[in-house]
Amino acid sequence: MSDDRLIVALDVPDALTGLQMAERLGDTVTFYKIGLGMLTGGGLALANELKQDHGKRIFLDMKLFDIGATVEAAVRGLAQFDLDFLTVHGDPNVIRAAREGAAGKDMQILAVTILTSLDRDDLDAAMIVPGDIPDIVTARAARAFEAGADGIVCSPNEAALVRTLPQAEGRLIVTPGVRPAGSDAGDQKRIATPASAIAAGADHVVVGRPIHRAPDPRAAAEAILAELQSPQAQRANRV
Ligand code: C5P
Repeated sequence: MSDDRLIVALDVPDALTGLQMAERLGDTVTFYKIGLGMLTGGGLALANELKQDHGKRIFLDMKLFDIGATVEAAVRGLAQFDLDFLTVHGDPNVIRAAREGAAGKDMQILAVTILTSLDRDDLDAAMIVPGDIPDIVTARAARAFEAGADGIVCSPNEAALVRTLPQAEGRLIVTPGVRPAGSDAGDQKRIATPASAIAAGADHVVVGRPIHRAPDPRAAAEAILAELQSPQAQRANRV
């Protein structure tokens, strides 16, 4: 059984460890996220190998944020690789620049709304406008879609609200901050189970530590895939 709604975050130190983890997971997992932590550890080479030799889909989580010209140049460079998803921060000018950089390529641009590891106290410390996180995430998502994002990244707790946006029609919602019941939250603060994230409107769930740190990663991934097939993962208004 495999299901590309599950994206496994390969947050391991280097490409060799990532490849070994992907080999342990085998056919169970079809979609991998490679993030900043592996940038200096051969992350792009691993992305290429998983794509070309193993036929996996690749989400490169770079969370780019810079002036437009620099974002455009970075995205243009990354678009030479055969990537499926790339993240940028969800500021409209950043998204517009990323769209330019990805022009003519299939790579989809995902906008990060507010990191799932942040709560209201963290936003206060960063001087982000007052208000409830779901409202701020939803407003940022609407602007991101208007600026041309193919999808957004948010916590499962906000997915249902984002799904109600007219601008979200036909766009992707990808949710990290996903924890099978009973597993350690780690530094994540706005979390939900895989099934409830999908039921709330997520198209993909990103799961890292509950799989790659499990004693048996393949069994952990299979348990999540089984949960995604359960009635609890049904989305009432699924189109
Ligand atoms: O180990 P865990 O399941 O918490 O991993 C979640 C992954 O999703 C990490 O790679 C993290 O960088 C990423 N992520 C996140 N929150 C976002 C965007 C990405 O946790 N808003």
